[in-house]
Amino acid sequence: MATQQLTTSNQPHMVLRCRDEDAGLCAVIVIDDTTLGPGLGGVRHAVYADESEALTECLRLAAAMTRKNAVAQLPYGGAKSVVLARRGADRPRLMRRFGEFVAQTHGQYLPGVDMGTTVDDLALIGSSGATVTCAGTDPSPATALGVWAAVRAAVAHLDGRETLDGVRVLVQGVGHVGSSLARLLADDGARVMLADVDAERSRSLADELGGSTVAAEVAASTPCDVLVPCAVARLVTPTNVAALACRMLVPAANDTLSDAGCATMLAQRDILYVPDFVANAGGVVAIHADQGGWAPERLRNELLRIGDRVGDILAEGDALGSLPLAVAEDHAARRIAAGREVAAV
Ligand code: NAI
Repeated sequence: MATQQLTTSNQPHMVLRCRDEDAGLCAVIVIDDTTLGPGLGGVRHAVYADESEALTECLRLAAAMTRKNAVAQLPYGGAKSVVLARRGADRPRLMRRFGEFVAQTHGQYLPGVDMGTTVDDLALIGSSGATVTCAGTDPSPATALGVWAAVRAAVAHLDGRETLDGVRVLVQGVGHVGSSLARLLADDGARVMLADVDAERSRSLADELGGSTVAAEVAASTPCDVLVPCAVARLVTPTNVAALACRMLVPAANDTLSDAGCATMLAQRDILYVPDFVANAGGVVAIHADQGGWAPERLRNELLRIGDRVGDILAEGDALGSLPLAVAEDHAARRIAAGREVAAV
């Protein structure tokens, strides 16, 4: 076993490398900021070329969680962890061993589900003494409801329409979030188009919902009104912005833009970009509700408020002549600065 812990006064607050060759574990935990509370963020289990690539992704995702929790007015900082997927690993052992590292943060890192992990994994992580979220409840349906509200807000802002009747919405990735979202969109009258690297998964859901499918590799360049990435990070890069064929981009996926300059490029192409960390906050809201024992009605209302927040940010962006991303980042920065002032008193 080897553990290296770095604590800095600048971001990130903490980086914890987690290695145990016997258990097949190679992972990294990044706590980006704890000004507003313990760092809340999911555990990603995915294939990476090496630990360095995983660390780079984890740093970016943890910073996005700081912004997400701040804009959503939640009492949490931002964090994330990434477990490198390895063929043949004993998953229960891997997750339990990872949980021992999480426990070393003494509650400063609150893990939840993310791409490639389930509530069962979180229960295993928690069984090692770590404080976890999502061990009993999957927040993905809540994330989907918030994204649905965000899609509605974007359509209302751009087209002045109150419903999604006939709106072409392409969902890229129909896993936990994407499948729930597709159902909400179809119920709302949208023309649902689905893409997944697991073509059978998208095909069977499209059949169920009366939608259509699109090959995963052309999802971003397929004409539609709204593109909703629900899979991997950094779907949009400076080199592919020109190929996008949507009018609105409303991500459930975290860290959709490979760099902030993409937001300007999207605006130049008249593509309305709703910042991912605003649209996809439903999961963290649900986690907070779970911790606080909220009634279902209160949770639902809070999730729908994500749509109001998106509408406000888009309107403020128009009024100021600013990108929605800049407005949302400013909201996050101001809330964190206010938190620092309170902490300093
Ligand atoms: P998941 O692992 O359940 O589903 C991901 C789906 O995307 C799978 O069906 C997979 O086959 C598909 N996929 C992977 N690569 C793809 C590609 N290149 N093209 C098309 N499809 C691809 O993950 P989950 O939980 O649904 O999360 C999806 C995204 O939403 C992730 O980026 C995650 O970080 C983000 N997110 C999830 C939240 C949650 O509550 N689960 C909360 C906030 C964000």
